[in-house]
Formats: sequence, structure tokens, C-alpha cells
Amino acid sequence: MIAIEQITELRHQLAHLRQERSNEGRISTVGFVPTMGYLHEGHASLIQAAKEQCDIVVLSIFVNPIQFGPNEDLDKYPRDAERDLALAKRLGVDFVFLPTVDSMYPTPTKTKVKVDEVTTLLCGARRPGHFDGVTTVVSKLFNIVQPDYAFFGMKDAQQVAVIQQMVSDLNFPVTIVPCPIIREEDGLALSSRNVYLTEQQRQEALVLSQSLCRIDAWMQSEEVSTVSQLRDRIIQHIETSPLADIDYVEILSFPQLTELGINASLQAHKGQAIIALAVRFGTTRLIDNRIL
Ligand code: PAF
Repeated sequence: MIAIEQITELRHQLAHLRQERSNEGRISTVGFVPTMGYLHEGHASLIQAAKEQCDIVVLSIFVNPIQFGPNEDLDKYPRDAERDLALAKRLGVDFVFLPTVDSMYPTPTKTKVKVDEVTTLLCGARRPGHFDGVTTVVSKLFNIVQPDYAFFGMKDAQQVAVIQQMVSDLNFPVTIVPCPIIREEDGLALSSRNVYLTEQQRQEALVLSQSLCRIDAWMQSEEVSTVSQLRDRIIQHIETSPLADIDYVEILSFPQLTELGINASLQAHKGQAIIALAVRFGTTRLIDNRIL
């Protein structure tokens, strides 16, 4: 495994390896896993998927300042490069790219990549500018790494929808591979931000995955057949936790992220709708979701 900080060095090494393999008559595909570090089993599953599907695996670790709002957790975002590098090595990553903020954003940077519509609701509505920061950095990383495949976790389902839209609109020659949410044994979706939770908050946070899990039973009982009935039922369940402060509970089409209408039948939208949750426990905002 080679860890690289410089953009030019990563480009050089990747071009060299591709050329070497092509001289041997081998076509090599590059799989890319972009992350902000503090790796957990969710990231590990993305790396494993990339390893299975691609010949060369590149992992980036970059806490991207422009996707954090002024009152968000940029400064305290958890970081542990040493542990991340050890895990990446163990998982068989070929290149780890660890750029500095100055090299990614030499001042003054005057270009941003902005996707409309799919960024205006859910987390996009609550975190102004967040997705512009994500699409700008992911575009830069795609241009630097030039991957054939890029792997993203469905935990950030809106991010997947936004990036798929960007890739299609801007003709990036990369296939986006959405990967399943990885959960703790008790159901909590893995997130680097889970470390902020107190023990009690972590316990209470299980109402998110529980409510997503119970959807099938609620729908079978036939008390829940429309979007508004399901939304009400989920809210009711989340509110059983005294610590939960609901930011949103939304049921939308996926990946278009458009309104379904409150009386829309859930059966009619199976496989094409997302139930997306964002709930605060203390100062920590957790998200979770499920495709119906
Ligand atoms: O999902 C993340 O960790 C980040 O949003 C990403 C895609 C690495 C961009 O900074």
C-alpha cells in the first residue's frame, strides 16, 4: 500500500501502474472509495466491494472543510490517520490519498459544482451549501483519481442520488456503486459521528433503526397503507424516546427525491421510495433510511 499526499504524485503513480499493466496486456479497472476518514466497518464494506470488483483500489481520506456549515463539527470531526492507514493496509487498499486542505483548495478557489433540485430537500434543506461542498470535492477527486467505479454507502442515500445526478449531467466516465448500510448488531447504522453519543443517547438512538425495521409489520397489519399513515407511525415510534428531537421524517421517490403525495399508496411505490430520517440526540444529528 502506498500513502500519498500530493495530487501530482498520485496521478503519476496511477498512470505508471496502469501503463505497466497495459504493457503486460492487462486492462486494469480503478475502484475509488472517497471518505473523510475515521474508518469503520461501513467504510470497510465499501473497500471490500471495490476489491471484489476492481484491479486497483484507491481510498481517499480528506475532511472536506467546504461541506461543513459555520456551526457544524469541522474542528471536532474525529480523525485517526494512523488507525485508518493500518485498516486500509489490512483490507488490501493499493493507494491511500491524503491531500492537505491547501493542496485541494489553493486560495482563492473560484469554482463550485452545484446540483439543483435533489439538493434542496432533506439534509440539503437543513445544511445549506453542504451538497455543493460534496459535489465540488467529489468532482475534484474524480478528476484526480479518474476511477472506473466509485463506491458510496447508502447510509447517505441523498448523497448517492446527488452524485449520480452529477455524474450523469457532467458525463463523468465513472460508474457509481451504491453499497448497503452497515449496522451494529443492535441495528444502529454505522457512522463516524456515533462516537459523539453518550451511552444513553446511543441506546435511545435505536428508535431509528427499529422504526425502519417495523415498517413491514405495520404494512402487513393493514393499518398503514399510505405515505402519511407510515410517516405518522414512524414519528410516533421515534417520539417514544424522550431524547429524540426529530429533524425530518420524509417518504420520497428514490432516486429522484420528489414528493409522493400524502395519500399515495405505499404498495404502488415499493422499490422506488425512500424513508429518510434525521433525528438529533443532544447535539448529534443522526440520519438513517430504508428503501421501501
Ligand atoms: O460521505 C463522505 O464521507 C463525504 O461526503 C465524501 C463523499 C467523502 C466527500 O467529502
